[in-house]
Amino acid sequence: MKKRIYFNEVVTRDGFQSEAQFIPTEEKIQLIDSLSECGYAKIEVTSFTSPKAIPMLRDAAEVMQRIKRNPDVEYTVLVPNLKGAERALDAKADEMNLVMSTSEAHNLANLRMTREQSAQALAEVIRFVGDKTPINVSLSTSFGCPMEGDVPIEQVMKYAAYFVDLGVRGLTICDTTGMGHPEQVSRMVEALQQRFIDHQNLQLTLHFHNTRGMGLANVLAGVQGGIVRFDGSLGGLGGCPYAPGATGNICSEDAIHMLDAMGLDTGIQLEKLLPLARQLADLVGHSVPGQVLKAGRIGDLRQRIIQ
Ligand code: COA
Ligand code: ZN
Repeated sequence: MKKRIYFNEVVTRDGFQSEAQFIPTEEKIQLIDSLSECGYAKIEVTSFTSPKAIPMLRDAAEVMQRIKRNPDVEYTVLVPNLKGAERALDAKADEMNLVMSTSEAHNLANLRMTREQSAQALAEVIRFVGDKTPINVSLSTSFGCPMEGDVPIEQVMKYAAYFVDLGVRGLTICDTTGMGHPEQVSRMVEALQQRFIDHQNLQLTLHFHNTRGMGLANVLAGVQGGIVRFDGSLGGLGGCPYAPGATGNICSEDAIHMLDAMGLDTGIQLEKLLPLARQLADLVGHSVPGQVLKAGRIGDLRQRIIQ
């Protein structure tokens, strides 16, 4: 049997949040509804952040209310604080994705708190949510911080263990600005698996950006290390507004195309996904970095060139 990979599409959250032009609510809903039919395990729909901080996602409640939910897809939302958790509960999100950075400088820029303040505030959120909604915690800048440089693996483990002890269902280890390389990913995955060997149900996800062209190599290192959950963004859109020089997430359709070619089961129908990626440039008003979209799939043979 093919090994199952669980893919989380983050284009309407991570992808859209740094776009300059507001994307109309209706268009967001249409895109999410179409993505819901492609076979994703999870879609990160939006974030319940401050509308002043992330104006693009100020329509989060309306989007959550109006999307058509496919029972086979989990609809998750990013939540930075208690107020966000209250809004996410009202919106009946299937999962809350809490976020903090493993580097002090990025946490201060992104969340306006020290890491210790964030850790305490998120513990309060976890207590508040209780068993009403499963919780995932995303640890940003885990493979390096654009302001501080190296982030020691022990620092990532410290926060990972803190949240696992608080009973969260999953952790996402994020390379927010594409500083991680495959050997580092292998070390990280091994360290996580050793540390949480007694937590067989813990869902470990990897979240890469392709800022330096290492995105898919990092996915491969993750797969080879036994990770089965990945985030990606349609077209390769994305970037943290609080990380200088940040660029897009790994491109979902490129990653899925690679995993399919390797014989893994992503559950995703590329023939449905590629037309959505093709529409994305019009939606955001600029080209997107995805490559399979430009070249076609490996199997899409062209007419032989006759000289
Ligand atoms: N949802 C809606 N509004 C919120 C909110 C939330 N989750 N959290 C705070 N606010 C509002 C407050 O009500 C307050 O509004 P007011 O000025 O009208 O009174 C205002 O935002 C400031 O609140 P405060 O608690 O002082 O927060 P802050 O200004 O320190 O902002 C964050 C902290 C984390 C809420 C904010 O910086 C944020 O949302 N950042 C986005 C982080 C992000 O998504 N980054 C990219 C992904 S990693
Ligand atoms: Zn990201």
